Amino acid sequence: MGKKKEKQHETEQNGSSFSNEKHPKKKRKKGEKPKDQQNDCVSLANEIPTVSIALPGSIIDNVQSFELATRLAGQIARAATIFRIDEVVIFDNKSTSEDASTEIIENSDENESGAAFLMRILGYLETPQYLRKSLFPKHSSLRFVGLLPPLDAPHHLRKHEWASYREGITLENLDQGSTGSLVDVGLSKNVMIDQVLEPGKRVTVAMGTNRQLDAGLPRKIVPSSRPREDGMYWGYKVRYAPNISSVFKKCPYQGGYDHRIGTSEHGLVINSSELTLPSYRHLLIAFGGLAGLEECVEEDENLKGKNVRDIFDLYLNTCPHQGSRTIRTEEAIFISLQYFNEPINRVKN
Ligand SMILES: C[S@@+](CC[C@H](N)C(=O)[O-])C[C@H]1O[C@@H](n2cnc3c(N)ncnc32)[C@H](O)[C@@H]1O
Repeated sequence: MGKKKEKQHETEQNGSSFSNEKHPKKKRKKGEKPKDQQNDCVSLANEIPTVSIALPGSIIDNVQSFELATRLAGQIARAATIFRIDEVVIFDNKSTSEDASTEIIENSDENESGAAFLMRILGYLETPQYLRKSLFPKHSSLRFVGLLPPLDAPHHLRKHEWASYREGITLENLDQGSTGSLVDVGLSKNVMIDQVLEPGKRVTVAMGTNRQLDAGLPRKIVPSSRPREDGMYWGYKVRYAPNISSVFKKCPYQGGYDHRIGTSEHGLVINSSELTLPSYRHLLIAFGGLAGLEECVEEDENLKGKNVRDIFDLYLNTCPHQGSRTIRTEEAIFISLQYFNEPINRVKN
């Protein structure tokens, strides 16, 4: 999978950096975040503990066919959802420390890099079915996604289901004088929200209690993290990091990841029931590729002279006495997330 690129607009939305946002954005001041990201930053300050996983995009590069690569990406999406992961970071081993997210997510042909492929499929699967057509233009990398089992996450609501929140997409505003916008939230009718937003934007709508879609007050847009604050799992975000040091440096959470765990067969063996995690705010669990995290750290110029034990608070073997000589990354993700499940729940409670 090579690196040919075409143009695709980017927008940071829940779930992924992909969108077919058709309207040019207003110019922002240098360093200023788009409005929806500003919202997210505010909400992140509310400090619901988060769990992120990081894994290399290179795990896709060694897969023999598109179908198998798609299945692998699907397994990672399932693992992230089953274990309520908030953020999936896909890293490369590039020498640049520039955040090349815009480049990596630019529309590309079937030769796109493993990282771009993985991000596209993860983002697609995280998006509720009724929004996919609008947010994901046709792409050859998506040709086998129909084979994948659905994530069946709580925000993947069906037409007849009512929930306190729904993911939606803002629609073209036909009424010039209107003080609100219409949003397609995957119900039989579109709902009105109390602010005018550019069309093509993914939003989280607080549905309120009035189930009548025609009548009543317009509904409110909330930060995509709000359902989490109410205890619901609301999908994962997908982020790109050009190298492993950028996984940490570009952490979107205030104060960064305050507990970092690396996984490896060379790690420490601790029984899951005896593992005590500190009361973290933002936990990161990292996985390596074919040659492990050790090589990822060695190859990163920003980490010269450092080894895995310098950059992680814990370096753990989550599957001691393995029978196979190698545990593949996608297998290690399931094994490790199950291993961490109980220690994480103990911290939460
Ligand atoms: C093919 S393995 C890499 C093998 C490498 N020698 C290593 O460091 O584990 C790919 C990834 O799976 C995970 N992994 C493999 N075996 C593991 C184990 N016993 N415990 C925890 N993670 C493991 C690690 O994240 C590793 O980087």
